[in-house]
Amino acid sequence: MPEPLLRVENLDVAYLAADGPVRATSKVSFTLEDGEILGLVGESGSGKSTVAKAAMRVLGQPAVITGGSVRFRGREVLRMSDAELRQWRWRDVSMVMQSALNAMNPVMTVLDHVLDTLAAHGITGAAAKKRAGELLDLVEIDRHHLRSYPHELSGGMRQRVVLGIALALTPPLVFMDEPTTALDVVVERQIMRKLVALQAELGFAVLFITHDVSLLLEFATRIGVMYSGRLVEVAPTQLFRDGARHPYSKGLLGAIPRIDSDEAPVSIPGSPPSLKNPPPGCRFHPRCADALDVCETREPPLVQIGADHWAACHVLEVA
Ligand SMILES: Nc1ncnc2c1ncn2[C@@H]1O[C@H](COP(=O)(O)OP(=O)(O)OP(=O)(O)O)[C@@H](O)[C@H]1O
Ligand SMILES: [Mg+2]
Repeated sequence: MPEPLLRVENLDVAYLAADGPVRATSKVSFTLEDGEILGLVGESGSGKSTVAKAAMRVLGQPAVITGGSVRFRGREVLRMSDAELRQWRWRDVSMVMQSALNAMNPVMTVLDHVLDTLAAHGITGAAAKKRAGELLDLVEIDRHHLRSYPHELSGGMRQRVVLGIALALTPPLVFMDEPTTALDVVVERQIMRKLVALQAELGFAVLFITHDVSLLLEFATRIGVMYSGRLVEVAPTQLFRDGARHPYSKGLLGAIPRIDSDEAPVSIPGSPPSLKNPPPGCRFHPRCADALDVCETREPPLVQIGADHWAACHVLEVA
């Protein structure tokens, strides 16, 4: 079997705090193939950003990667030197951060931003300026905005610019951490459609992080659900929509307001557990209507429950 574009295996990340470590992710494993959009969804604090930042090696203090592996086309990212990382980032993988709207420097023009990124990879002069124009065309922003400062652009335009910069070196993999959360729904849908069109044209893969499972149902190829630092289910979108099996995933789907049904959305009872002091066994068991005795004591591993369908749930093991 050829190596996938990205293989994350048993990734453990902790944030070291004075009163003990926060185990932000535990044993997170997934793969990402060329050209697919894998959506990661979960409540605030479930570890989504931590997974993306760890995989890109941009986590700083007080975070430590305490275990696992991240391989990009078979190469171990966790062992890359700083020089190797500098080459690898932007050329092979880029990231649109959660705070993308604030990611631009207010005293730099759009052109300055693009030139900075290109210069870090040896593209300068006329070639860089030409590329900057092409990138604005790509994200459908008029080229005269190369001279604009961030405050002169709307939120949606800034987001497109950031997307264009992420594609500056046409990397095969782009991480996007809630890139549209700060935008209104109409602009969000416009940007998502643009993203999917670009993805189809250029063929890059996306790890797309969001709170909004309905956005993923519309745009993702596969969906992964995070709960309390664990990946609890991964399935292709269609299968997830029609046959999610983990009780938490079912809860997420049940909480989506629907216009084609009289059924009222039902929110998941309870609140997410503390990562400092997580409940024993399955971390979801205190909120789970289906919990068995074993769920209180033994942590369910992520296991394959069907073709391309993985879940971590004792109830599914005994069913
Ligand atoms: N610098 C830090 N120091 C200590 N704990 C942190 C730090 N950054 C994140 N955490 C903790 O790690 C856990 C996971 O955080 P993370 O940002 O990955 O979650 P998330 O799923 O991206 O949440 P959100 O949806 O709010 O962005 C949270 O409980 C958070 O409080
Ligand atoms: Mg986050």
